[in-house]
Amino acid sequence: MSDVVLRSVVKRFGTTVAVDNVSLNIRSGELVAFLGPSGCGKTTTLRMIGGFVGVSEGRILVGGRDITQLPPSRRNMGFGFQNYALFPHMSVAANIAFGLEMRRMPKSEIQRKVNAALDRVRLRQFSERLPKQLSGGQQQRVALARALVIEPDVLLLDEPLSNLDANLRHEMKNEIREIQRTLGITTIFVTHDQDEALSISDRVVVMRKGRVEQDGTPNEVFDTPKSRFVAEFMGVTNLLPGRLEQGGRFRLASGDVVPVASGTKAGDDMIMAVRPERIELRDTPSGDDGSLKAEIELATYRGLMIDYRVRTSSGIALTARRPAPAVGGPEALPHGRQVGLSWQADAGVLVPAGEA
Ligand SMILES: Nc1ncnc2c1ncn2[C@@H]1O[C@H](COP(=O)(O)OP(=O)(O)OP(=O)(O)O)[C@@H](O)[C@H]1O
Ligand SMILES: [Mg+2]
Repeated sequence: MSDVVLRSVVKRFGTTVAVDNVSLNIRSGELVAFLGPSGCGKTTTLRMIGGFVGVSEGRILVGGRDITQLPPSRRNMGFGFQNYALFPHMSVAANIAFGLEMRRMPKSEIQRKVNAALDRVRLRQFSERLPKQLSGGQQQRVALARALVIEPDVLLLDEPLSNLDANLRHEMKNEIREIQRTLGITTIFVTHDQDEALSISDRVVVMRKGRVEQDGTPNEVFDTPKSRFVAEFMGVTNLLPGRLEQGGRFRLASGDVVPVASGTKAGDDMIMAVRPERIELRDTPSGDDGSLKAEIELATYRGLMIDYRVRTSSGIALTARRPAPAVGGPEALPHGRQVGLSWQADAGVLVPAGEA
């Protein structure tokens, strides 16, 4: 078993607290993404797990064993970085063999393992090339093969896809996921891209200012963000302040009343977070069906979707996302058009108002 446990881990650089009391349980075989904005402590946390950065406080355990004081070479972990970090003067095969040679493994066994690793990332025919003779995607696959060839207990990947173009990023992401699943290797994947985190991982750890803001499945962090920060990071653009009233109603600051899913506890000042794609726009405002009267201010095309900026007659600005009309179909809603808007009770997620 190679579950990874962080207990109250702190990292200080001088007076900067880069990682502030982080506790995590990463199960054996799980792929966990560390997600958050620049400077929130993702890389520092990963590097403490790898042993490249010492911890200021707290413990790190792998498979129940305390490794807090072990040097990187004794942690049996594989690494992949944004910039690949390949040895430029060594062939692909030599790059991959390096870690095994350090372990003084017999030549024939090294050969066999290197070939297997090359096959796994589909680079057998490139084994004698130098890194600079490969594309970015191929170099990243060499880096992955090099990380995996030592049969690590844990794979640590720090923004491995960020130097690749969009198509390649997608392909590599699937490749990493497939290899990770096949080998059942406990993996931590650092990214600041929420789509990447949501689509590749079993669990997402959203970090903010050195702390864990939310830790949950992709579904949980996407659908039920626990804070305004997570909601915004997950692309929720409509954040509506208000108060929860008796009888499961939410009164917006504008005075409008909207439904709330049952089971939500009454609290003081809250924010209702509503995803733009959950807002329904009716082309005609009917008024007494509970929908809010609003006017289209701006339509922004996003390929298959259109984002409408609308303003309610009570003065709230919202974004509603709708499929773009088919070619030859009806026109997009024009500026100034009166509409009715509403959303289902379960589309409005309440989070504490707190700091932004
Ligand atoms: N060696 C160091 N010395 C001093 N401060 C550091 C050092 N490494 C990181 N920091 C600080 O620690 C904080 C967290 O940095 P870290 O690199 O972990 O962020 P990150 O989440 O990986 O960001 P990014 O998405 O930009 O890579 C930042 O404020 C950073 O300036
Ligand atoms: Mg980083």
